[in-house]
Formats: sequence, structure tokens, C-alpha cells
Amino acid sequence: MRFISIVICAFTLFSCQFGKENQVDTQSTQNANQIFQEELKINLEKEMEYCEEQLKKSVALNIDYTTHPRLIEKGEQHWKMPKNDVLLWTVGFYPGILWQMYDVTKNEYWKQEALKRTLPLEPYKFNKEHHDVGFMMYCSYGQAYRLTGNKDYRDVLIESANSLISRFNPKVGTIKSWSNELHPQWKQHITIIDNMLNLELLFWASKETGDAKYRDIAVKHAETTMQHHFRDDFSSYHVVEYDENTGKIRNKNTSQGFADESVWARGQAWALYGYAMVYRETKNEQFLNFAINVAERFLAGLPQDCIPYWDFELTGKKEEPRDASAAAIAASGLFELSDLLKDSKLKKRYCAAADAIINSLASPAYSARGVNDAFLLHSTGAKPQGNEIDVALVYADYYYLEALRRRKTMESSM
Ligand code: GLY
Repeated sequence: MRFISIVICAFTLFSCQFGKENQVDTQSTQNANQIFQEELKINLEKEMEYCEEQLKKSVALNIDYTTHPRLIEKGEQHWKMPKNDVLLWTVGFYPGILWQMYDVTKNEYWKQEALKRTLPLEPYKFNKEHHDVGFMMYCSYGQAYRLTGNKDYRDVLIESANSLISRFNPKVGTIKSWSNELHPQWKQHITIIDNMLNLELLFWASKETGDAKYRDIAVKHAETTMQHHFRDDFSSYHVVEYDENTGKIRNKNTSQGFADESVWARGQAWALYGYAMVYRETKNEQFLNFAINVAERFLAGLPQDCIPYWDFELTGKKEEPRDASAAAIAASGLFELSDLLKDSKLKKRYCAAADAIINSLASPAYSARGVNDAFLLHSTGAKPQGNEIDVALVYADYYYLEALRRRKTMESSM
């Protein structure tokens, strides 16, 4: 009962604040209502078989294991494979996709292919240069440990967690995401919304070691971010700069979004996914309610086909590219949210919304079937920087496969 009233309060608060501060265009609002009626139209097994076929093509070409697939340019067929580098946050996704395929098929072939591309990443466990050691190591070694139980991989992950917490500033209450040298526009403690995903490694490390310090930092980071990183309508800023000595806010900006006060689609998806995950790990209902509000804001910004423009400010501007990666991250986060909820109406609401997104991602408009070696087309990495515009991105594929797997597990338990 208490839970339901908290949720109702959260909805009421959301509607009032949302109504006051931000008018979403009518088409988007109608869409938000429609998608809560959606049913799954794809065959999950067949879609995962399609992913496996695509992977067979790309593993044959990715044979230099010191490189990793990152993007496929529009009009190209094969992955661009930059050298693995500590500054590239994307190195862990392709091994992570291969581990997921091993999980789906139980075929030893995928385990061997995953291992070949996971083990070269070990030196990055010492990465203290930025926060993405979580993405880099948890998506690769995290899956490796989950699926093999090999203690060597556990040690790599614990070292990675130590590197991540070395960036925590207790005066601010968050992990520092980026270095000032690489991002000189900001002079002090920079935290970006994407950082929420890196917390999963810390929750894991506390469970594994019995040492609460990792989890305490993760919870503090999530609380501080909840307090300072969001507008009244639960939309997220991309970048918040804090005074490193006092924790006071210096600036709230964007880097990859359209404008400081706009809503960068992938940032909102990271927030949705991140707070659902933090609720899973803490069972603290304030995080659940927050995840619900963030999810509602994401869904309210979607166009008719459920795949966001790269920034919600640009919804409906046909010349602007979409971001299928944001859609895939959100779909996976919504399945998790649905799974965690006890209230059956809300459970159905977020499962239907995620179904609507994956129905659309699997359709010819977004599927890479017959076009290139990825799973999905039409993602946007960093439009303001002129990078990765309307391309295939490896993390779109990672979260798409995760979403399909999560949906499959839910199907078997429904
Ligand atoms: N974490 C970087 C990005 O979402 O582009």
C-alpha cells in the first residue's frame, strides 16, 4: 500500500511539475499513451539468431585483438576498428556482446571468441584517468566472471573497482568523470550523467568482497546526482561541474547534447537505466520512484516510432538524426524496471513501452539486416563534435542484445 501511494505521489508530482515547466508536443504525448498498449511483435529467438548471424560476419574480420569494433559509417558495411586505448570507453562492448552470445547459445565457440578479446583489456584495470573503467571492464570481464566463475577475472574487476573509487571526491559526493586536461572547458570536478552506469561495478565489488566502501560510494554518487543533475521535470543535464573543495555547483552544461537546457536522449537513457539498477542493488524505494519519473520523461519525449531524436529538443525535425543507442539502452532499462516492480499495472506499463521500442528497433527502418555487420542502424554518438552521426554503434548493439535477453527471461517467468 505504502509503495503504491509513493508511486501515485511521484506520478502526481511529476505531472504537476511536468505540466508547469515543459509542454511536450501533443504528438509525443499521444505516443507516450499509445506505447503503453503495445505488445511484443517480434520473435525473440529469431531476433537473437539474427544477431548471431551478424556476429559471425564481424568476428571473422576482427582478428587483431588489440583493436575493437566501434562504429560503422553510413554506407559502409564493416566495423571501424580503432586500436584499444585507455581513453576509449567503448573497448568492452564487443567482448561483452560475444559473452552475451555465449550466454544465449551456450556454444563454446562464442566463449573462445569472447576470451580472445577480453584478456587484452586487463591493463585497463589500472585506469584512473576517467570514470569509464566501469563500462570498459564490467561489460567485458564482468560478463566473463559471471559466466565462468574464473577467480582471475574477479581480481581484475576488483582492481578496476579500486581504480574507479580513487576518483571519488567526498567533499562533492560524486566520482569525477572526466579529467580537466581532456575537457579544459571545465576547471574543477566534472560529473556526467553517464557515470551512473559505472556504479554497477561498485555494487558488484561490495557483494564480492564484503567491503561496504564500494557500495557506499555508489549510493552517495547516486544520491548527489539525484539532487543536482536533474531539472524539476526529471530531465537530466549532461554535465555538472562542482567546486572540488566545497561541492557547490559551478555549472550545469552539456557536451553531447544540443544545448545546456535541452535533453540529450542518451543521457536520459543512461539515467533511466542507472536508477533502475541502483534500485535493484539497494531496494531503496526513493531510487525506484526516481527511476519511474526519469522513465516517464524519456517516454514522453519519443516520436511516433519510439526511437528518439538524438536530443529531445529536436523531436519532429526530420533532418536531425535519431539515436538508436539511446532507444536500446532505455529498452533494457525499462525491462529491468518492469521486472523489479511489484505493482502489476506499472509492470505492464514499462514492459509494453520497452516492447514498443524493440519492435521498432527490429523493424527494417532500424535493423542492419542486409545493410551492414551491426545489429542496429541509426545511432548518434556526438553530434555537436561532428562525430558518429547516423552510424551503427557497438554499444547500441550491446544494450539491444541485453534487452532481448532480459525480455526473454521475463517471458519465461510470466
Ligand atoms: N558515455 C559516453 C556516451 O554516452 O557517449
